Parts: sequence; C-alpha cells; structure tokens
Amino acid sequence: MPFKRNILCIGAGYVGGPTMAMIAFKCPQYKVTVVDINPERIAQWNSDNLPIYEPGLDQVVRAARGRNLFFSTEIEKGIQESDVIFVSVNTPTKTFGAGAGMAADLQYWDKTAREIRKYSRSNKIIVEKSTLPVKTAQAMERILTCADTALCFDVLSNPEFLAEGTAIQNLENPDRVLIGSAQSAEGICARDVLVEIYANWVPREKIITSNIWSSELSKLVANAFLAQRISSVNSISALCEKADADVQEVARAVGMDSRVGAKFLNASVGFGGSCFKKDILNLVYICRYYDLREVADYWEGVVKINEYQKERFILNMLQVMFNTLAGKKICLFGFAFKADTGDTRESPAIQIAKRLMEERAELVITDPKAIYNAEEDLKGAIGNVTYVEDPCDAAAGCCAIAVMTEWPLYKNLDYREIYRKMAKPAFIFDGRNILDHEALHNMGFNVFPIGKPPLTHF
Ligand code: UDX
Ligand code: UDX
Repeated sequence: MPFKRNILCIGAGYVGGPTMAMIAFKCPQYKVTVVDINPERIAQWNSDNLPIYEPGLDQVVRAARGRNLFFSTEIEKGIQESDVIFVSVNTPTKTFGAGAGMAADLQYWDKTAREIRKYSRSNKIIVEKSTLPVKTAQAMERILTCADTALCFDVLSNPEFLAEGTAIQNLENPDRVLIGSAQSAEGICARDVLVEIYANWVPREKIITSNIWSSELSKLVANAFLAQRISSVNSISALCEKADADVQEVARAVGMDSRVGAKFLNASVGFGGSCFKKDILNLVYICRYYDLREVADYWEGVVKINEYQKERFILNMLQVMFNTLAGKKICLFGFAFKADTGDTRESPAIQIAKRLMEERAELVITDPKAIYNAEEDLKGAIGNVTYVEDPCDAAAGCCAIAVMTEWPLYKNLDYREIYRKMAKPAFIFDGRNILDHEALHNMGFNVFPIGKPPLTHF
C-alpha cells in the first residue's frame, strides 16, 4: 500500500532523530525518512546502538524502523521523494566574523536551503525545526524562490520544545505544539498539513498556530525564560550562603505561589545544554541589532549569572581546600549537562574540570553515560585526568567529590565505604543539592551544598 505522505528530515541529531521516530511511530500511514551528511551517524541509527541515549527511544525506533521509518545518507533522493521536509541541522553559535560568540551560525541552513532548491522536482512544505534567529524563514524562502522555477515552497516554523532525557515523553505528550506560518491562503494551507500530522496523537487544543515570526521568537523566549528562572535562583543561592538561609527552603516557599510555579527553581552549579546559552545569546544579538540595549543587557545578565555561578563553585572549592588544589585528587560525579543523557554540550562540568586542571588538581571523572563525551571534551586540556566507570572506585584516594550531574544513582551509594577510602579531610561539594548532607556530615565529610550553610568539622 502506498504511503499517504512522504516526510523527510534533514539532520539526524538529538532533535531530528527522536522527533521523526515519534512521528513514524504514531503515524504508520506516512513514510518518514531521516537523512544526514554524517554516514557514521546514519549507520548508528540503523544499528542496535543508537547515536544518542534517550529513555524510551530504543523501543520507538525498533517499532517503526524498516516499517515506515528509514535512516539514510541519500539526501538528493530524499528531497525528491518528499512532500514535507523538516530541517533539523545544527545552528551553533558563530565562532568567526561579525557576531562571533553571539549570533547563530547559519551556514548549514543556507546550504540545506540551496540543496532543497537544487534537487526538488515538486512543491514542498519546508518545516524549520532547528532553533533559529527570527526571520530565518524569510531568508530561507528567498533562497528557495530566487531561481527561475515554477515550484512552490511554503516555509513553516515548528520549534521543538523537547528536553533531553525526557524527549520521548515530551514528544508523546507535549505541553503544546507550535506552528507558525505565513498568513496567506497558501501559508494556512501548508500549516494545516502539519496540524494534521500532529493531530494523529496530539489533542487539537494543544496545537497552537501563530504568524511565523512569533513562532520563531517564542522558541528563543521560552528557553530564555526557563534559563532565567535558574539564574534567578542561582543568584539567590549566593546570598543564602552568606546569610545562612537555605535556597531550597526559599525556592519551595516562592514556587508554591501558583503564579510562579515550582519547576526550574533548583539551584545548581549552573545550567548547561546545547540550547539555553546559545538561544539567549541569539536573543541578545537580535536586541542589539535593533538597538534595544537595555533589553539586550537584561537577558545577557542570565548568561553572566550562569558564568558567575560556575566560577563561584570553583573559587569556593579552592578556598575551603586550604587555597591549593595542586596535586590533590578530585573526583567529579557526573559530566553530562543533566541526568538521563550522555550529552555534555555546554555542561558546567567542562569548565569546572578545566579550571580544576589549571589549579593542577588531578581529576577522576565518572558518569554512567557521558565518559566518552567527557574524554572528547577534555582532549587537549593540559593536566592529569582519568576516567573510572564505578563511582565508588573513582572516589578512592580522592580528597574531594564534586557532584556535577544529578544522576539518581549518586544518592544511594555506600558513602561510609567511600569515606573510608578517601584521603582526609574528605570534602563533598554538592553542585546539585541531591545528597543527604546531614548524613554525610555525620559520617565525617565536610559538606558544601549550593545555597546552604556548609556542614564542616573544622
Ligand atoms: C539542532 C540545532 O542545534 C538546534 O538549534 C535545533 O533546535 C535543533 O537542531 P541537535 O539536533 O541537537 O540540534 O543538533 P545535532 O545533534 O548537532 O544534529 C544536527 C545534525 O545535522 C548532525 O547529525 C549533522 O551531521 C546534520 N547536518 C548538519 C546535516 O545533515 N547537514 C548539514 O549541512 C549540517
Ligand atoms: C531545554 C528546554 O527545557 C527545552 O524545552 C528546549 O527544547 C531545549 O532546551 P534541555 O537543554 O534538554 O532542554 O534541558 P533542561 O531540562 O531544560 O535543562 C537545562 C539545564 O538547566 C541543565 O543543565 C539542567 O541541569 C539545568 N537546570 C534545570 C537547573 O540547573 N535547575 C533547574 O531547576 C532545572
């Protein structure tokens, strides 16, 4: 039986892979093909060892792969055969030229738009999945339609709100699906095609539509607001440490106001991940471009507090460990930017590891999913670092443990045994406030949480 629709996704990354797997899983009537320029990545998607770790992803891929879900490197063929093309290539922060360190690097987008134009033989609906600066859809439309062609390309914005570690849950049961389109008759028509795809499993009232610029901007603003909550609570954690207050108690009291809400108020060593910093800097860049200096400075403050929080963590370690870390073994519990993922992009652990190495500490790194990425991230960094699978073995002989990632497994380790094997005095710096600080203190540890008075034996 022929498929009702041919859907293509360009970019088989953290966003493209799981999103397309879910569409294929929920809609057996559509053929879904995911293409990527990276043949190794595609080979992994076609193997039992998927390129990303995401709870529940294996089952979804296994159910649909070979039935109506296909991973391939044949970009040209994929473009020709499809009627709807999702674009999910990466858009890192620019590292060169104007806007370096701030603006999004759109070279992959630009190139992808040109490829779509070159290989298309029929009308297409193009869906922006990657997070992009406002008005990228317009640029894309201009690239697509500038050639002498009778073909029609409708560009939609459909930002992805999934969070890593809960991607499958977020895709299966999203808070909302946002679709931005041109307000012309053709734009609305294209929008309705995409609405129909999601309506296979998402309740209609959760599928919201807007104009295309609002949709593009909403993604940046959603991430900026989430990150702002973390920087807000982290800024207060610094005050709590000085004022003998407890940031978790403060966050609970504040978050129980239903106007504020309880989520995203966990003080931490800092936020990481591929999106928050990049999207805020993007927002800042756009504001500066329109000469909205005050607005730009306001949002830049969210990133600055995050940098401050990481630096504060390091300086605190240095100070309480008698102002020298040289030659001391320090164990990092976790390297991923959050639990339930092997992703380390922008993980606070990267900066902290590098700073500890600058202080000439000897690092031991453990993480249940991110050791490979940690090794990649620290390649070329000068200093002594070893990687150990088992956290108890990793901590043996160390003077300090610093919790970088909130992996639940760290809550239930045999800390009595760990304490016995560590050098004394033994320190724990809980960068995620996940451990039982009182109990650890009673075992003999000197405990330094975030935003709470330390528990020491001095
Ligand atoms: C990307 C963007 O970075 C993010 O802004 C957006 O919200 C979603 O898409 P992610 O999926 O996490 O996020 O990126 P990544 O895992 O790096 O995947 C991008 C994929 O695109 C890579 O596999 C890369 O090989 C592929 N790619 C890149 C192409 O297929 N063609 C290109 O021209 C460039
Ligand atoms: C984020 C957004 O949540 C998601 O909607 C968007 O599509 C992509 O960016 P992600 O980066 O995967 O998702 O993870 P998220 O759960 O938002 O966490 C980001 C960072 O903030 C992590 O380092 C996390 O540990 C940290 N965090 C989160 C805190 O420090 N405190 C909190 O209370 C919550």
